[in-house]
Amino acid sequence: MTRIDRVWPDPADDLDDEALLAETRMPDAPWLRMNFISSLDGAATRGGRSGGLGDDADRRLFDLLRRPADAVLLGAGTARTEGYTAMRLDDAAAAWREARGLASHPTLVIVSRRLDLDPASAMFTDAPVRPVICTVGSAPQERRERLAEVATIIDAGATEVDPRLLREELSSRRLRRVHSEGGPTLFGSFLEADAVDALHLTMAPRLEAGAARRIASSAEAVGAEMRLVSILRAGSELLLSYRR
Ligand SMILES: NC(=O)c1ccc[n+]([C@@H]2O[C@H](COP(=O)([O-])OP(=O)(O)OC[C@H]3O[C@@H](n4cnc5c(N)ncnc54)[C@H](OP(=O)(O)O)[C@@H]3O)[C@@H](O)[C@H]2O)c1
Repeated sequence: MTRIDRVWPDPADDLDDEALLAETRMPDAPWLRMNFISSLDGAATRGGRSGGLGDDADRRLFDLLRRPADAVLLGAGTARTEGYTAMRLDDAAAAWREARGLASHPTLVIVSRRLDLDPASAMFTDAPVRPVICTVGSAPQERRERLAEVATIIDAGATEVDPRLLREELSSRRLRRVHSEGGPTLFGSFLEADAVDALHLTMAPRLEAGAARRIASSAEAVGAEMRLVSILRAGSELLLSYRR
């Protein structure tokens, strides 16, 4: 298992999974956190995907961060680009959740305006929990009807998904602790609505240059201030935790 140390606060070496889960605990209250990886010069992708930036330590934390979540939230662009399959945790993670009164697996929630999602994708056909698609009133009717056969469709806005309304809709379905795996457009819209409570950011020890995007994008600058909560380290990589 790839070694992860805590640098700050309370330095500790070689944290085991339980220590990492305690470190990254989510409060019981409705809570929404984002998880991203960035190169040192701010690239959110390498070769068009985030996976190109990560290593085993990032992957280890990525998997653990899903574990306590009621829902794992994705923008449709990330679902399409990163080749997502069903939101199914491994047996140990499912047992961990069941022992704490959680559903065996988190609910996958995808945000999409155009509904350009394949109902035959394993995200839907192999899902252990019926996924949720959060969309808008103006979404194409035919796609909506086809996806309604494999997912629960929620409207949360007329032409844009309103992040605050989305959070209320999820909370009312007992999906209170929401862990989001991106991507940049989704993050930007949630920042514009001031609907993000926390950020886990892996700083990959690479310099990418090129034209890669940043981890958040929106038409207008936002300027949300964040407070550092902890610094983990795996070799030259930093795993940072921030709160609003
Ligand atoms: N570095 C990282 O940690 C990380 C994490 C995730 C993704 N990525 C990368 O980011 C890239 C994808 O970027 P992206 O910006 O397209 O990803 P995204 O934010 O996941 O997806 C954007 C799409 O999500 C939907 N969407 C997001 N916010 C919406 C809102 N408020 N209302 C309605 N629909 C909304 C729209 O879907 P429709 O088009 O279906 O209408 C929109 O086109 C990929 O290259 C991926 O690898 C990097």
